[in-house]
Amino acid sequence: MTVQEKIKAKTRTVEELLALVPDGAVICNAGTGFQGFYSKLHTIADRLTKPVVVYGYAGGKDNAYFWDDQYKEKFVTWSEFFGKPLRDRHPAGNVSLIPLHLHAFMDRFLDVYKPNIYILGTTMVDRHGYVRTPLSCPNRRAIDMADIVIACVNPLAPTVYGDTEISIDDIDYIVEEANPINTFDPGPLTDVDRAIGQNVATLVEDGSTIQLGIGAIPDAVAQAFMSKKDLGIHTEMITSSMADLCLAGVVNGSKKTLHRGKLVGGFASGSQKLVDYLTENPSVYLMPLEYTNHPAVVAKNYKMCSINTCIEVDLTGQIASESIGPRQFSGSGGQNDTAEGAIHCPGGKSIIAFASAITKKDGTRISKIKSVLTPGSIVTLSRNNIDYIVTEYGIAPMKARSVRQRVDNLIAVAHPDFREQLRAEANKLMLW
Ligand code: COA
Repeated sequence: MTVQEKIKAKTRTVEELLALVPDGAVICNAGTGFQGFYSKLHTIADRLTKPVVVYGYAGGKDNAYFWDDQYKEKFVTWSEFFGKPLRDRHPAGNVSLIPLHLHAFMDRFLDVYKPNIYILGTTMVDRHGYVRTPLSCPNRRAIDMADIVIACVNPLAPTVYGDTEISIDDIDYIVEEANPINTFDPGPLTDVDRAIGQNVATLVEDGSTIQLGIGAIPDAVAQAFMSKKDLGIHTEMITSSMADLCLAGVVNGSKKTLHRGKLVGGFASGSQKLVDYLTENPSVYLMPLEYTNHPAVVAKNYKMCSINTCIEVDLTGQIASESIGPRQFSGSGGQNDTAEGAIHCPGGKSIIAFASAITKKDGTRISKIKSVLTPGSIVTLSRNNIDYIVTEYGIAPMKARSVRQRVDNLIAVAHPDFREQLRAEANKLMLW
């Protein structure tokens, strides 16, 4: 069969695909651009006797299966990370987090569950009979295990190189829909963000390989790297600011010991400028998160610096990054993965950076450095895996530091308004 004949034989409508969803199905997805399928998923609700599990975020603002209370017993969403929609919907009870490190999330999930359906948002089928997931990689084991693999081919999806291609022979059905790729611009930087960025920049030597995490602070840090030389990138998430660093020539990967000269990442999320930079760029290499985030792989890089942010930290260096007290806010993501890789890398550094204090919506000012974590807080990064904690007031070394030294170092970079109180609490709790 020619590629065109295969496309024709495999093409279905969304309604035809929905008819294939079994009762109590487990549905996984990768890539982006499958809104058509999910916007109509609720239409099968009447025939379900067991809930359908959707693994991974697939909710749009208008997807009834996810947002409409009348369907919440019929469809549940599980994910290892909460973005805003999952966070907003969590109180309804149809969304639940699966605590997992990102390097292992899909493998550990597939050890327990067999997907009935694996949906891939992809580029159009090319002349060789291949599609590509645009800004992340497919999971090969999920493709092999799923009863049905569906490609939602999207004429607006950009081609990004790496381990992203899938043969049409591995795809059971194709549905075409044009979906613009979601992009967003980073917010403006404050003076505090810039000061934090400058402090982190003093820790990162020219030639280092960097990972920057999710959130405003890692973006600010990248801007402070503009005067660096020969940086490399090995990261979970490719951010907007990384495109700026590459375009400025600050990142060239020339000192990298793994994938020299290549920007290696697990997925990309950010601005249109970032998407434009990644599109058909031979120096960009998307690799599965099982690879990019595996601590043993991270550790093979040259002077690996893992740079992430958090919700709060206690005076001994325990890092809470995914919950506000007991309320799940995001997820572990790869924070532990890249930090653990960095501490096993010669010359590597595990860094957490954040503003020393924030003003809550009710006007109260709080310190992000606490004597003890807020009850219910989830520890994302063990205090054993942190080398430096950075605020706008400086750098608190943690590596091989005793609890007494950690307390002193952290109080020195806490907001001045809270230092006295933190000292009194530390003494009362005998944190030494
Ligand atoms: N106490 C109470 N609320 C706090 C807080 C604290 N100590 N620190 C932050 N918050 C609130 C903020 O006010 C904000 O509230 P809002 O949503 O109502 O505006 C919210 O928590 C998010 O804080 P912000 O600092 O704006 O978050 P961010 O977008 O910079 O992301 C993390 C920060 C920690 C949530 C994010 O980095 C994360 O999820 N990390 C874990 C995963 C990870 O690091 N992966 C690494 C590789 S990508």
